[in-house]
Formats: sequence, C-alpha cells, structure tokens
Amino acid sequence: MIIDCDPGVDDAVGLLLAFASPELDLKAVTTVGGNVPVEKTTRNARIIRHVAGRDDVPVHAGAARPLKREPAGAGEFHGAEGLGDLEAVEPDAPAAEGSAVEAIVRIVMEAEPTSVALAVMGPMTNLALALRAEPRLAERLGPVVVMGGARSEGGNITPSAEFNIWADPDAAAEVFASGCEMVVFGLDATHQVRGTEDRIAALEAVGNASAAIAASMLRFSQRIEREIVGWPTPDWGAPLHDPCTVAWLLKPGLFRLKPCRIEVEADSDLTRGHTAVEFRVDPASARHLWAVEADGQGVFDLITERLRGAAR
Ligand code: BDR
Ligand code: CA
Repeated sequence: MIIDCDPGVDDAVGLLLAFASPELDLKAVTTVGGNVPVEKTTRNARIIRHVAGRDDVPVHAGAARPLKREPAGAGEFHGAEGLGDLEAVEPDAPAAEGSAVEAIVRIVMEAEPTSVALAVMGPMTNLALALRAEPRLAERLGPVVVMGGARSEGGNITPSAEFNIWADPDAAAEVFASGCEMVVFGLDATHQVRGTEDRIAALEAVGNASAAIAASMLRFSQRIEREIVGWPTPDWGAPLHDPCTVAWLLKPGLFRLKPCRIEVEADSDLTRGHTAVEFRVDPASARHLWAVEADGQGVFDLITERLRGAAR
C-alpha cells in the first residue's frame, strides 16, 4: 500500500499503525499540504517514520497547495508544527527523490493491477494530479481508502463539509468522478472512534516509543477537543479519523459499509466540500463504499495490539 497524508496528529497514529503492520507492505508515504504546510507534513512523516524504526520506507513530498484554492490549515487541531506537543526536530533521514505524484504513478503502474491500495488521509490533491498524469491509475489502483467527507454527522470545518474534502474540493470532485474504487471513512464513522481516557491509558501502558508517541497525539487531541469543540460527558473522547483507513485494510469487519455514489460540491461557497452520498445505486456496479458504522473499541484494541509489536 501507499499512504498519502498531511501529519497531523491523527495521520501520525495512522502511520504508526501501518508501520507496525508488516502484512501491509507499505511501499511509500507521500505528503501533501493540509493541516500544516507540506514542508512540515513531510518533516513530520519523517519524524514518525524514525520513531517507528522504519527509515526503510521512502517519504515523497507532494503538493504544496490545492488545485485552485489558497492553502487552508488546521493548526489549531494539530499544533503549530502539526504533531501536537511533540518537539519537531529535523530527522537525519531525508525525503526520497521524486515527487509524491511520480511515486504514486510509478509504484501503482509497476505493480499487478489492483494490488496497491492507497490510503488518503489528507486533501486529495496528489491523487487528482496523479490521475491527470496517468488516467489508467483509476483501474490500476487497488481500493482508494479515504478519510474524508460527512453525511449524517454534518461538517467539522463548515456546517456541511469535512476538512479534507473542503480543503481541496476540486481535487476531491475529480477523484470521486474518476472511476476509482473508493472506500470512504467520513465523520459518520470516525466520530464513532473516540480516544476515551481508558483507551489512551491502555496505549500508554504498552511502554514503547511508538505507543508513547501515539498516546501523546491522542492526549493533545483530547485537550483541544475539550477547549474548542466541547466535552458533553465525562467519558467523552476526541474522534480519531485517519487511522480508520489503515484499520479497515487490516480488519474490515470493524466497519459496516454501504455501496453508494459520492459527488462533491466544488462551486458553492456555502456548501463547498459537501459530500453528496447517494445510496440508491446498483450495489453490483457501485464504485464507492461509505462507512456507516465503526467499532470504536475494536479500532483502539487493534492499534494497541499492533503498537505493542512495533519495531520501536
Ligand atoms: C481530517 O482533517 C484533518 O485535520 C485530520 O488529520 C483528518 O484527516 C478530519 O476531518
Ligand atoms: Ca489528515
């Protein structure tokens, strides 16, 4: 698989889960500007790779800005450097030669058709550019497993849109219309996966570097959720979005998915980035699946179990 991301505290947990799961055969991590600018998301991916003892996985820098819009940013949810309270020191191992788009096209086109899954944890700019460069990617890619969008939950950046889709709605619209097979974890599912106190404590008890960093990301999100979003009950927790993509690849039974067709609003200022999810489709020919249910405890158990076996 390939992970395309904008770390980001929850991207970081998703990366740690993938780094600790050898059966995923992670070919590359590609980065995009999103939560913080691409220079920082690329450095952050290299930091997390180093923490996990996985400097063998190449990190390729990707798009600095959305297709048509100004770069957004979500530093208030991820910290100014993008990794919460973690000190952002420059890691020794550099980014790999070649852009994110070049890496995605090369890896997918060299592999057996549909054998490479792509998890997209940030704005879809890199994939949209890759599809423009190589339209055959749409049938060559394995599932494109996306964190993005919102239906019944409403949005988290505007009333109608989720951040990743809102940040580059033009890219998302192109990708959803491309014919790629897509499995989509929007807020409807990720809001069911919450970092409650007992779940974070279980991760802290693991005791290695990967689990400690993951727990520090979750503690940061917990604090921000209390400050910015609100904390309705004492046993509440911040949602954990991006790792759902990797968790589904590892253990699909943790989620319930429904066939659908997804389109993205890219023109309206009011509803920019809204995901229109149409369930009235022929399941046999539908190219999109939308996650409607997630086993939050199961996702956290999986993360804790995998990080217990991490290289570091
Ligand atoms: C998504 O937005 C980003 O801030 C997170 O990293 C996640 O990918 C959640 O809406
Ligand atoms: Ca992200």
